[in-house]
Amino acid sequence: MDKFVISGGQKLFGEAKICCAKNSILPIMAASILCDQTIVLNEIPNFVDIKNMENILKCLGADTTFCDNRLEISTKNINSFFVPKSLTEKLRSSIFVLGPMLAKHKKAKIAYPGGCKIGLRPIDIHLSGLKQLGAEICEQDGLIVCDGSHMKSSKIKLRYPSVGATENLMMASVFLEGTTVILNPAKEPEIVDLQNFLNQMGANVCGAGTEEIVILGVKNLGGGEFKPIADRIVCGTLLIACSMCGGKISVIGCREKEMASLLNELRKSGCKIDVKNDRITIESTGSLKAVSFVETLPYPGFPTDLQAQFVAMMSISSGCSKIVENLFETRFGFTGQLQKMGANICVNGKECCVCGVENLVGTKVFAGDLRGGAALVLAGLRAKGETTVCNVFHIDRGYDAFEKTLSSLGAKIIRKRDEK
Ligand code: EPZ
Repeated sequence: MDKFVISGGQKLFGEAKICCAKNSILPIMAASILCDQTIVLNEIPNFVDIKNMENILKCLGADTTFCDNRLEISTKNINSFFVPKSLTEKLRSSIFVLGPMLAKHKKAKIAYPGGCKIGLRPIDIHLSGLKQLGAEICEQDGLIVCDGSHMKSSKIKLRYPSVGATENLMMASVFLEGTTVILNPAKEPEIVDLQNFLNQMGANVCGAGTEEIVILGVKNLGGGEFKPIADRIVCGTLLIACSMCGGKISVIGCREKEMASLLNELRKSGCKIDVKNDRITIESTGSLKAVSFVETLPYPGFPTDLQAQFVAMMSISSGCSKIVENLFETRFGFTGQLQKMGANICVNGKECCVCGVENLVGTKVFAGDLRGGAALVLAGLRAKGETTVCNVFHIDRGYDAFEKTLSSLGAKIIRKRDEK
């Protein structure tokens, strides 16, 4: 197991190119099941979750090669329809294979998904949508057993704009004769990216990013090359890092529209933001004003995946802030570790009140999930003294060599083997 050892107090300067988005790559990897020919994804970062998803595809019989940030997937030899718990428990995205397996192979048997322990994370919206498309689903002994042989196009209304369920149902519908409509879908940029990928492979999907997604069934999908969009959460994490440490950095790859909710809060806290096309530049003195209220919402609201990082930012801002987490029931789990560093935080259910302190103090802390772990790193970059962040495997799921990116911007952070 690795740990990060951080010497706080360094300002950040320079620029960073943002890698492709984890939450776009993963559903697209699942969508490869729909394709008759090989797909090639370029500029793919070494996220651990990508390896985990590769293992799931290989378990089904697909062939994958991942070398020099180029990921090739061929699924024409898929000959198994079962994914065991040992693979699905590693990531939430394992559930994304359900839709494409039913669309292409008419059957699937998979164990329940795992992923960050940030809430209950049920899959009822996925399953009810698939049932509305005619899939026969039974849950037995921790397995989801599905028969998609009688699926038909239909109009589906989601009770909540679930990102994963929207993606699963888009993929489940691509071969259904006629027109499938998904109402109240998630509108995240990653949904639009999946639509663009599917259409490039020969599907007929429109409306992603709006209130209604329409899928016209086609006979088959081909193959080809595709470059997923940049990771707006990695982008936001670096912007918040600079706001806390002080300095001036530019991040390249994300556009103002997809970063708007965070940029608004950064401006309110006193940071100077300049945007030119896909280059966002932030300048900060490191002395921030607290933002009185922020709540996480589905896109285009403030992203839940930046909530932890924002709490860390408010923990050293002057004044008090209330952050409400509307999506996940236990996504404030990291705050106990921030309190060990001297943060003044009080959590009550879905509300978190933070009153900024002059300085955090470095100590040993433990990452418990992906974004909470990233928040602890940001706190360490700002804190006085040395911070050790243990259980870095959580962070490696969604940040590629995070310590190298931060070091390139002037941070003092190294990765060490944690000899326990
Ligand atoms: C995706 O998770 C992302 N993961 C998450 O990012 C992100 O936090 C989340 O969307 C919200 O933006 C990937 O894309 C791989 P949801 P997902 O279904 O699809 C409830 C990260 O850090 N819900 O939109 O699982 C659910 O409990 C990760 O990169 C149901 O009740 O999120 C939650 O309260 C963490 N039933 C809300 O909806 C369902 O069937 C939003 O979940 C599905 C979801």
